[in-house]
Amino acid sequence: MFNIFGTKSYLGVDIGTTSIKVVEIIKTSTKPKLKTYGFLESYGHLERLNDALQTSSLKIMDQEAAKFLKILIKQLKCKSRDVVASIPAFSAFITLLEIPEMPVSEIMETMKYQVRQYIPLPTSEVTIDWLPVGKRQDEKGVNKQQVILISVPNEQIRKYQNIFKLAGLNLRALEVESLALVRALIANDPTPTAIVDIGARSTNIAIIDKGYLRHNSQTDFSGGSLTQAIASGLNINIRRAEELKKQKGIIGVGGDYELSTLTIPFLDAIITEVKRAKDNYEKNSGSKIDGSTSLTINPEQSRRIERVILTGGGANLLGIDTYFEKQIGLTTVIGDPFSQVDYSPEIKPIIKELGPPFAVSIGLGIREFV
Ligand SMILES: Nc1ncnc2c1ncn2[C@@H]1O[C@H](COP(=O)(O)OP(=O)(O)OP(=O)(O)O)[C@@H](O)[C@H]1O
Ligand SMILES: [Mg+2]
Repeated sequence: MFNIFGTKSYLGVDIGTTSIKVVEIIKTSTKPKLKTYGFLESYGHLERLNDALQTSSLKIMDQEAAKFLKILIKQLKCKSRDVVASIPAFSAFITLLEIPEMPVSEIMETMKYQVRQYIPLPTSEVTIDWLPVGKRQDEKGVNKQQVILISVPNEQIRKYQNIFKLAGLNLRALEVESLALVRALIANDPTPTAIVDIGARSTNIAIIDKGYLRHNSQTDFSGGSLTQAIASGLNINIRRAEELKKQKGIIGVGGDYELSTLTIPFLDAIITEVKRAKDNYEKNSGSKIDGSTSLTINPEQSRRIERVILTGGGANLLGIDTYFEKQIGLTTVIGDPFSQVDYSPEIKPIIKELGPPFAVSIGLGIREFV
């Protein structure tokens, strides 16, 4: 945990459905510093993409994940053994609640009670956490506090504990990937924003307002769907389709035009989901939230999403930001997690490309330092 200078460092570990990414972050007197980074991809998923039964529930097996992690840590010569890791958003239940103002000590008890209404599992089988996200005066002038309730099945937590134990690492904290993304891509910016994380197997849409996560949803339309569309449309194998996608993106002209006609319907499906999340948030943000019904009481208070931040490996698709912006009608940028860390000048030429796949791991790695 401590190197010879007494400096503390952490490993940020993002176990995706198809790859593992690791960063090592060191505390400094200024910004946290990225010491090293790396990833390993499980190519098996490319072949298995054809199998329609495999959805985002497909996870790298524990043993394999531990084996990959050991290899990565060794190759990267990481000094720290202390890990902050992410839980995929699709394994967690994330709900925004409004409760009367009460002391922090009482909130946990209230949450334990509330959680029963929102999750399909017995409370003894989940671990819950909550974060304050705002305050509001209701129509009767009563002060209410808004909290985001996060529940994760214990089975999922045990799985992660097992992976890190097998890999000889100390799991210090586990957090839902959307929270790591907020830290890496938003920090304290209050602008109402949709973060769209386009992964290999699923796309995660997080709505952030005043710097807080407010809503989270997912779709199975993802980077893998685009690859699949190219493979079946051109009748080529998945690996070749993956290469073509990375090479050509959606800005193809002439002969390459055909490629974007295959992929764009899937990109449009992702955009439709983002629009839906945006509309829902805007509709409900001026409302009273009581879990079962939402009654609009003050439409003037409703907040409008102002921008989209794209992240995840799928955000490296050439031309995606321009297309997204045009279709959704909001400023769209590719997130830059490197703005939160110092890094070696040698990697400056490639940080643009590294940013999307490493956003979650960087957000995890800086957790204890910001
Ligand atoms: N240059 C590129 N152009 C287009 N797509 C790309 C590019 N680079 C990576 N991708 C896509 O990004 C996806 C992988 O993204 P990422 O590494 O964020 O996934 P993951 O975290 O392992 O998956 P998930 O989040 O679904 O568990 C793949 O579908 C891959 O094809
Ligand atoms: Mg991911």
